[in-house]
Amino acid sequence: MGGGSTYTPELIDGFARLRETLPVSELVLIDPAADRLEKVGGLARRIFARQGHEGTITTTDDLDAGVDGADAVLLQLRVGGQAARERDETWPLECGCVGQETTGAGGLAKALRTVPVVLDIAERVRRANPEAWIIDFTNPVGIVTRALLEAGHRAVGLCNVAIHLQRKFAALLDTEPDRVHLQHYGLNHLTWELGVTLGGGPDGAGGTDVLPKLLAEHGPRIAEDLRLPPGVLDRLGVVPSYYLRYYYAHDAVVDESRTKPSRAAEVAAMERELLEMYADPALDEKPALLAERGGAFYSEAAVALAASLLGADGGTSVQVVNTYNNGTLPFLPDDAVVEVPARISRAGAAPLEAPPLDPLFAGLVSHVTAYERLALDAALRGGRERVFRTLLAHPLVGQYDRAERLTDLLLSHNREHLAWA
Ligand code: G6P
Ligand code: MN
Repeated sequence: MGGGSTYTPELIDGFARLRETLPVSELVLIDPAADRLEKVGGLARRIFARQGHEGTITTTDDLDAGVDGADAVLLQLRVGGQAARERDETWPLECGCVGQETTGAGGLAKALRTVPVVLDIAERVRRANPEAWIIDFTNPVGIVTRALLEAGHRAVGLCNVAIHLQRKFAALLDTEPDRVHLQHYGLNHLTWELGVTLGGGPDGAGGTDVLPKLLAEHGPRIAEDLRLPPGVLDRLGVVPSYYLRYYYAHDAVVDESRTKPSRAAEVAAMERELLEMYADPALDEKPALLAERGGAFYSEAAVALAASLLGADGGTSVQVVNTYNNGTLPFLPDDAVVEVPARISRAGAAPLEAPPLDPLFAGLVSHVTAYERLALDAALRGGRERVFRTLLAHPLVGQYDRAERLTDLLLSHNREHLAWA
């Protein structure tokens, strides 16, 4: 779903390279945008052909026909496109709040637009094939995954932040990514690497924690990528995801966002260029420009997850996913959705036992979990008051006058996408 996304060639490239891991016989790209789908679909077929992949790639705007018979359905859609994202990134700034597609008030707007659409799609997937696995890359992944699980779907949420860090650490350690196991804990886009284990089993048991070494030898480089001062990492003693910058450097991010073009505008320009490239019949690989999008290694994470959910490795692999907490982080409700390492099998995701979380991190995780609960209620049931309560509960909003104003802005910028507003 969302097969016409400019990200799709990243995914196709992964399917082609990793066809031993996940032998795809038929891939259906489903998207309502016929023009994009045609360009992306053409390139996708050329990538398969160039790499000698024998699977077929078809395109359709007919959701029900597209998912019929599917073993797995990947959701990578964006309700309202980059235009809606641009607004999410802009209006919160009017209240001195970060404007971001998944964090803060903009993230709530995205959740409200997205949850009903995804639930409708999931219902139709279930009707077509009740056994199909749904892999959700659609943001905000934590809230969307919780919506899917609460509606009883066979769903797992996926984000590339963990695999990206795993690949980065492997390069710094000059080793193979498979030997690097992350103790990655928190919520989607709100995680910390509490440890980095080198060697040992798939769960890292028997390996060595090399996080102190990574911080000592490469701290400044890691901090630079996260755009945080190196001293902050030393004091945390762990590596936060780059989304923590929106908390730890909130006001600086707001100031900076006021003077530079939004990420949505940058991405929209990149997408125009990418689509032009995709239309060129001579192109048969993913273009380098695609690497400037945030989705690096997304395809490898998606292939590994789909393969394990479909039983390729007999339930031995451990991957970072979004799933029900069920006691993993004991200070959260069981039905919170957390982003943690889990053993993946045909039966789904079973989180590994977690190390204790320092109150420095646990406080924020609890706070945002409550926000996500309220955000999902607002998305499912609608209503101005629910939006207000959700914003009031967000640690980056908190004050009633701001929450009030942000509620008005959110509603006025999203009416076309919210049936109840
Ligand atoms: C990372 C995040 C995704 C997000 C993307 C944005 O991959 O994990 O959740 O959608 O960045 O990248 P973009 O290129 O659209 O800014
Ligand atoms: Mn993500």
